[in-house]
Amino acid sequence: MTAGTERNGVAVLPSTTVGVPRENAEGERRVALVPKAVEKLRSRGVEVVLEPGAGTGALIPDEAYTAAGARLGDPWVCDVVVTVGPPGPPEIGKLSRGATLIGFLGPATSPETMTALREAGVQAFAMESIPRISRAQAMDALSSQANVAGYKAVLAAAEHSTRFFPMLTTAAGTVKPATALVLGVGVAGLQALATAKRLGARTTGYDVRPEVADQVRSLGAQWLDLGIEAVGEGGYARELTDEERAMQQQRLEEAITGFDVVVTTANVPGRTAPTLVTAAAVEGMRPGSVVVDMAGESGGNCAASEAGRTVVRHDVTIVSPLNLPATMPEHASELYARNVSALLELMVDEHGTLAPDFSDEVLAASCVTRAEA
Ligand code: NAI
Repeated sequence: MTAGTERNGVAVLPSTTVGVPRENAEGERRVALVPKAVEKLRSRGVEVVLEPGAGTGALIPDEAYTAAGARLGDPWVCDVVVTVGPPGPPEIGKLSRGATLIGFLGPATSPETMTALREAGVQAFAMESIPRISRAQAMDALSSQANVAGYKAVLAAAEHSTRFFPMLTTAAGTVKPATALVLGVGVAGLQALATAKRLGARTTGYDVRPEVADQVRSLGAQWLDLGIEAVGEGGYARELTDEERAMQQQRLEEAITGFDVVVTTANVPGRTAPTLVTAAAVEGMRPGSVVVDMAGESGGNCAASEAGRTVVRHDVTIVSPLNLPATMPEHASELYARNVSALLELMVDEHGTLAPDFSDEVLAASCVTRAEA
């Protein structure tokens, strides 16, 4: 906290400082807070310190932040540091003991980050661990970023397709609309279905959670029923048994061949992503078709995909983009900043002082390392 001051002879409590560093992961163009969020936090009595150039990737100049009330300085010495991705060891080394860190920290995938944060005496909150409950929707960064990713995945499919998405009636003849299949219809999958529909494709959705069938239909898409249900804990899917997996792959192999575009988003928390599109399924697709595998970060849903690369197999293009939200940094940052500031607002009291209440289920669940007393 900054030193307290006196105003008109009355002691003013020191306000909490929130630091916004420049992200340093390759290709990361998002920033954790945007000027609008700075204004909101300032009105709650919080002081924001921006590393110069932190908004550059999202095309937000330092002046826009200072106009919103932030000051430029070293973000790592602040009471709270907000990031998009996890900090590396050098940055963790710069955090003060007892500091609070908020960001996508990879609690399930990066135990070494958790150990380093614990040893540094940092109180860390992982955006991935915010519970998927109604009250926490404003803080749900997995959802806000999955919406960006689902949208961009379909644009990538359209870009690589040798065929139109919409039906066209022209003097030169009529073109049939593309058919698009989305495998895994969580947040990203629903956005992919909506985007493909807006582009004019005939859409179909598939998931192992039968409760999403109505959501798929409400987006004007068909529901592909393969007769396999795998509902797990917390509203997520569970891993399939070997037998179910073999059955699913065989039934999907038959279904996939009829589609021009397949977008896959299937994930099971804490597990390698399931293989839904086998090499044989790719071979069965018409030349010029496209697969966009959105699960590259967790092992991929397509046997032929290579994470972060675009490959062509049997004249089918297979795209496996990584970190799609970073490719749309303006809106992705805006949405993420709202998620982060909603979480911060839950932690500060009416004087702008950091006072997290760990009896609150959202804070208890998202806190992944606690500062030692
Ligand atoms: P996710 O990224 O974990 O997985 C994507 C989709 O893949 C899921 O729909 C999952 O069922 C599906 N999937 C997994 N294994 C599969 C397989 N073998 N074959 C086919 N599909 C497979 O999911 P996401 O988008 O993070 O959503 C997870 C859950 O959280 C959903 O139930 C969603 O409705 C819920 N949710 C709740 C919110 C709230 O109430 N505030 C907000 C956002 C999501």
